[in-house]
Amino acid sequence: MSDGDISISNLEKVYDDGAEKTKAIEDLSFDIDSGEFVGVVGPSGCGKSSLLYLIAGFLETTDGTISVDGEPIDGPGTDRGVVFQDYALFPWRTVMENVTYGLEEQGVSKEERRSTAQRYIDMMDLGGFEDRYPKELSGGMKQRVAIARTLAYDPKILLMDEPFGALDQPLRESLQDQLLDIWRDLEKTVVFITHDVEEAVYLSERVMIMTRRPGTKKTVVPFDLDRSLDREEIITSDKFVTTKNSVWKSLREETQPEVQP
Ligand SMILES: Nc1ncnc2c1ncn2[C@@H]1O[C@H](COP(=O)(O)OP(=O)(O)OP(=O)(O)O)[C@@H](O)[C@H]1O
Ligand SMILES: [Mg+2]
Repeated sequence: MSDGDISISNLEKVYDDGAEKTKAIEDLSFDIDSGEFVGVVGPSGCGKSSLLYLIAGFLETTDGTISVDGEPIDGPGTDRGVVFQDYALFPWRTVMENVTYGLEEQGVSKEERRSTAQRYIDMMDLGGFEDRYPKELSGGMKQRVAIARTLAYDPKILLMDEPFGALDQPLRESLQDQLLDIWRDLEKTVVFITHDVEEAVYLSERVMIMTRRPGTKKTVVPFDLDRSLDREEIITSDKFVTTKNSVWKSLREETQPEVQP
């Protein structure tokens, strides 16, 4: 079983479509501990999704290395699960069949697949919807199916690319709290991309702020919120407000046009 620590060293990603080269990421080094929840924010187009897909093994690095548990990654693996903003469910499969997908790939028996999938379907409050198709579900339910599908094959690392970006505020908040429960109970390492500074600070233990493209680590803001408090108490606490402001300030320096002398 993997521990789920991630080590990124001098990472560079250049897209080359033959006619044009785009440097998305430049010299990015960053270590994430096993079981840590790290938020990533940065200006649009700075390479956040690229970073996530490189860690997932969907894309090849141009230079530098990404290691998981000390081993350089070599393509996608079931030690890493990805949750996308647009759910990416299989439309021709029911909720149950979507959630069992990764287990089929792992060659798990049909009975075990169903019982494992049911556990995560129940965890995500989807009981009773097992036979529905994605088009019959709301956005929030689709995203819960996507999360259940990823959790079902038990990746140690969850890579999440603006997973709640398309949802309204009450749904976002409820999924954020569900995610925190899962993170604590299942001891996952989570890398969570968002453009919402408040969401990043509410969920994470550290937030990495990226520079504008070519993206690299600008700064990392560590903090320690008292998780025994409820949401209202956390988001109104001095520590939360101060942290949020410092992340926001750092991000704003990257999103504002440079001042001409
Ligand atoms: N397949 C590709 N081919 C060429 N360029 C690409 C490709 N994918 C991404 N890029 C470019 O790389 C840069 C980084 O893109 P990326 O999607 O990683 O940014 P992002 O930080 O996730 O942006 P957003 O906040 O808008 O989601 C952008 O300039 C983008 O246009
Ligand atoms: Mg993106």
